[in-house]
Amino acid sequence: MLGCWLIPVSDLAWPQVTTLGAPRSLAQFFLAVDADPARRARMMAAGKDVESRLCGACHGVDGNSVNPEVPNLAGQNAVYIVVQIRKLLRGERKHETMQIIAKMLPDDDIVNVAYYLSKQRVTSPPKESAPSAQVGETIFQTQFCIYCHGAEARGNEQIPRLAGQQRDYLLRSLRQYRDRSGERNDAMMSLVLNALTDDDIVGLADYLNGLGMPGGGEPQ
Ligand code: HEC
Ligand code: HEC
Repeated sequence: MLGCWLIPVSDLAWPQVTTLGAPRSLAQFFLAVDADPARRARMMAAGKDVESRLCGACHGVDGNSVNPEVPNLAGQNAVYIVVQIRKLLRGERKHETMQIIAKMLPDDDIVNVAYYLSKQRVTSPPKESAPSAQVGETIFQTQFCIYCHGAEARGNEQIPRLAGQQRDYLLRSLRQYRDRSGERNDAMMSLVLNALTDDDIVGLADYLNGLGMPGGGEPQ
């Protein structure tokens, strides 16, 4: 359904991606790694090294953030993580600190850390939902969101997982798309949020945060 959004491998200069057979997209590359235990083990080790040196201080141990302003990366979809780092590098997504960090990462490290984080178990359990979460649930289930993000908000490949994401981070991102303030740029996201009020956005953030991330990542 969303094939047109996949990154073609011809668009990647990354040696380890292009050496693995001939995957047509980054999503296919990650699937091929899943099926190759030796390569998987190498990428997990390299990814863990990057994560613990450069990411954990903000994003939490193995991507389980404890700061409501900083997104969880545990169990996030690997292609989405790579795409966002590329957007930060190109200035298509703006966040001063993350843009600096993105520039510190050699290309292969981006792929390794994305793969590693996508496989981490999510430690945040589903929470008692705030009253406004009801509003958010209705919007999420009826206003196109599920066509891309899925009924359980797990996303897929280039579409982010939203279930259990940090509340304040969700609020900020949703407002940035809706208000077209220039930090987060995605035409579809701006369009679907266009008519939503601030209360609707609070409801969405409460609903999605409260979902927890059932089954996120894999046990290591
Ligand atoms: C100094 C703190 C800090 C460090 C260190 C850091 N990040 Fe971040 N990161 C953030 C913040 C804050 C955001 C939210 C940016 C925004 O609001 O757009 C973020 C956002 C992201 C996102 C986007 C997530 C999403 O759901 O869209 C990715 C991917 C990411 N970081 C990856 C990494 C990786 C990989 C590392 C290590 C190599 C790392 N970050 C290190 C603070 C940090
Ligand atoms: C046409 C597909 C599509 C639809 C419909 C859609 N989304 Fe998205 N959503 C995306 C994509 C793709 C991204 C990543 C965009 C980017 O690169 O910034 C995204 C990003 C997001 C993010 C940021 C996640 C993060 O980790 O930073 C949130 C929150 C979100 N969507 C919520 C929603 C809600 C709520 C709705 C319904 C009102 C919705 N989306 C409808 C495709 C969609």
